[in-house]
Amino acid sequence: PRPDVLVVSALRPGQMARLETLFALHRHDRAEDPDALLDAIAPRIRAVVTTGGRGLGRDIIDRLPGLEIVACSAVGTEKLDLAACRARGIAVTNTPDVLTDDVADMAMALLLMARRRLVEGDAHVRSGAWAREGMFPLTPTLTGKRLGILGLGRIGQAIAARAEAFRMEIGYVARAPRDVPYARLPDAEALAGWADALVVATPGGAGTRGLVSAPVIRALGPGGTLVNISRGSVVDEPAMIEALASGALGAAGLDVFAAEPAPDPALLALPNVALSPHHGSGTVETRDAMARMVVDNLVAHFNGAPLISPVA
Ligand code: GLV
Ligand code: GLV
Repeated sequence: PRPDVLVVSALRPGQMARLETLFALHRHDRAEDPDALLDAIAPRIRAVVTTGGRGLGRDIIDRLPGLEIVACSAVGTEKLDLAACRARGIAVTNTPDVLTDDVADMAMALLLMARRRLVEGDAHVRSGAWAREGMFPLTPTLTGKRLGILGLGRIGQAIAARAEAFRMEIGYVARAPRDVPYARLPDAEALAGWADALVVATPGGAGTRGLVSAPVIRALGPGGTLVNISRGSVVDEPAMIEALASGALGAAGLDVFAAEPAPDPALLALPNVALSPHHGSGTVETRDAMARMVVDNLVAHFNGAPLISPVA
């Protein structure tokens, strides 16, 4: 019989169809009464499919005694209870690499949007202010400026490659030195003091919570731009909002927030922020590739083959 798989959050349609041919699917995400569904099928479930936004909590893990693997469509898995999985020897997989370029593109887009005030410029044209009031204010340039990258993993390095093409000077903070021709700064505050723009590219989770603190934001300064494509938890969001409102921080470009999908209204009221709905990997091609990787991991698991992308 095909292994029973619980879907708590769906993948792209093409891979859902593939899942359906390979496994006996149970759609927790579509169940009218998810609780009753779990009661009925919980003992049979051997795998869970989820996304980064949905994750998987103890509440469900504890109800699945036969769970062997959780396959998550995301690189960041902090909404997934890894400790609970580890304690029971449940394998966990994510989807690194395939989303790196899209997330790095998003970082550069937000950097340009924030620094060149593209959101306000767009409104300036749409509202007729251009004709009424004339030229839009001048903004700082990007070329030749310093980009600080907090976290030089796969995504951080892809951002650096793009920033090189923009002829920016690049600095970074990472746990270990990297074999790269960039300036390595000792910590986030030093990096922010050095940089004209700071991009957050660390993982989320407990290890990086509040890393971009009030002093780091202050060090970035009135001419500085903060970009976050990582997790809202890495930035002290109230401190950032206060700094953006007072002018102590110049601008921000944000794909992630402390609260999603309804970020702090104080943030939404600021003119000097560019906002994106946690959509770094949100392209057709990348979401297809992520979904394929989820299914490939499940296939490997049930064939007794090595997993493609286990979470360490
Ligand atoms: C997909 O990766 C998501 O987090 O929804
Ligand atoms: C998106 O945020 C991801 O972790 O893939």
